[in-house]
Amino acid sequence: MKGIILAGGAGTRLYPLTMVTSKQLLPVYDKPMIYYPLSVLMLAGIREILIISTPVDLPNFERLLGDGSKFGIRLSYAVQETPNGLAQAFVIGEKFIDGDACALALGDNIFYGSGLSHILKKAAIEADAGAATIFGYYVKDPQRFGIMDVDANGNIKSVVEKPRFPKSNYCITGLYFYPNDVVDFAKKVRPSSRGEYEITSLNALYLRKRRLKGKVLGRGFAWLDTGTVDSLMQAAEFVQMTEARQGVKISAPEEIAYHYGWISKEKLVETAEKYGASPYGKHLMNVAEGKLIY
Ligand code: DAU
Repeated sequence: MKGIILAGGAGTRLYPLTMVTSKQLLPVYDKPMIYYPLSVLMLAGIREILIISTPVDLPNFERLLGDGSKFGIRLSYAVQETPNGLAQAFVIGEKFIDGDACALALGDNIFYGSGLSHILKKAAIEADAGAATIFGYYVKDPQRFGIMDVDANGNIKSVVEKPRFPKSNYCITGLYFYPNDVVDFAKKVRPSSRGEYEITSLNALYLRKRRLKGKVLGRGFAWLDTGTVDSLMQAAEFVQMTEARQGVKISAPEEIAYHYGWISKEKLVETAEKYGASPYGKHLMNVAEGKLIY
């Protein structure tokens, strides 16, 4: 199974914060935003990941993340010339995907909650078996998102992008798992009325074939938006508060890699030393020294 992180776009809603840097490189408390979706894909067991961003920003992602070896994974990079829509990720990534199943994580979505890795691994298994999975989250303002309508048995009835009159409050979050024909399906997507290759149109194609599953992430999960200055601040506050209270780090990819046996203790220590006296570096050192009990 492959994974893609889409980290392009202009980030105009955050100007001037994003005038000279990518939104997905902004800090969410103690780490760059992209660490969060990267961790989610890794928690699903995915070790081959493609980062897609703008021609200007892509070199910065490469400088930050490198070839992925410090996370025990393989990272590749590709450019999206213009932000024409999320479904384009699969067309850009065709060679990388190379006929595999593939997950897509939006570079600005944050997920956190107990049992998340189990749910992700299940979606990966479903994708290998031919079914796509999307994740729903109850929101107060459904007009702002892609929305899925589910029946009493949890079957998806419809998926609609930013409906004026939403049939439900279940937002489709920015994390999607698809089977190995996703590139063919993505190529069938036509631009929407706002001129974008919508991920919701891709999901609608799978729904029509009865190959789309919806998993609702309940109250025990945090799904955080970073689309506005206020929600970005709130996301940082959530991470700060949870980490301070529990003594954990949310979405530290090196820690996940170490726990999954993808990097050695020596590699973890090497990275921790590079990060020096920062709280993040100290945390990694504690992990390496076995000082944290979960
Ligand atoms: O966050 C979840 C929502 O994400 C879903 O509920 C919607 O169905 C989905 O369309 C998307 O809605 P947004 O309005 O948040 O999409 P936005 O255009 O803001 O793009 C999301 C992120 O992806 C953003 O950080 C920019 C990046 N992006 C966007 C487009 C259109 C790209 O990298 N390339 C693109 O072509």
